[in-house]
Amino acid sequence: GAPVEVDISKLEDGQMVRVEWRGKPVWVVRRSEAVLSELDGHDSQLRDPASEEPQQPEYAQNPYRSVKPEIFLAVGICTHLGCSPTYLPDTFNEQVSGITAGFFCPCHGSKFDMAGRVFAGVPAPLNLVVPPHTFLDDNTILVG
Ligand code: FES
Repeated sequence: GAPVEVDISKLEDGQMVRVEWRGKPVWVVRRSEAVLSELDGHDSQLRDPASEEPQQPEYAQNPYRSVKPEIFLAVGICTHLGCSPTYLPDTFNEQVSGITAGFFCPCHGSKFDMAGRVFAGVPAPLNLVVPPHTFLDDNTILVG
């Protein structure tokens, strides 16, 4: 599949844009300062907080799992059986107390934080996949 260009110039805090790459949904989310600060402090509830599992791009192996802290990309497919998790920008605390935003898979209840890291005790075995991508400039990302 051809690489896909994404314009993020109009993406506001908390917003997500969805694009298709190689037949898969790819999410691009702008994370606010508040959301970024929430990534710190629940490592003990995560299965693989440092993304040590194989097949992650190098830039997915930091606490933000991204090239730039504020911009997060993930393949929007649950690592359990392939449903598409729901982005909950404000109501994730109904799933995990104390955490405002995250992703919830309605199929079997898997939960992921705003870096796509899977919580322990759910069916999904792995963090969400970060697709290969590069920044062409501040507002343009090339996925693939
Ligand atoms: Fe997402 Fe099963 S497919 S929890």
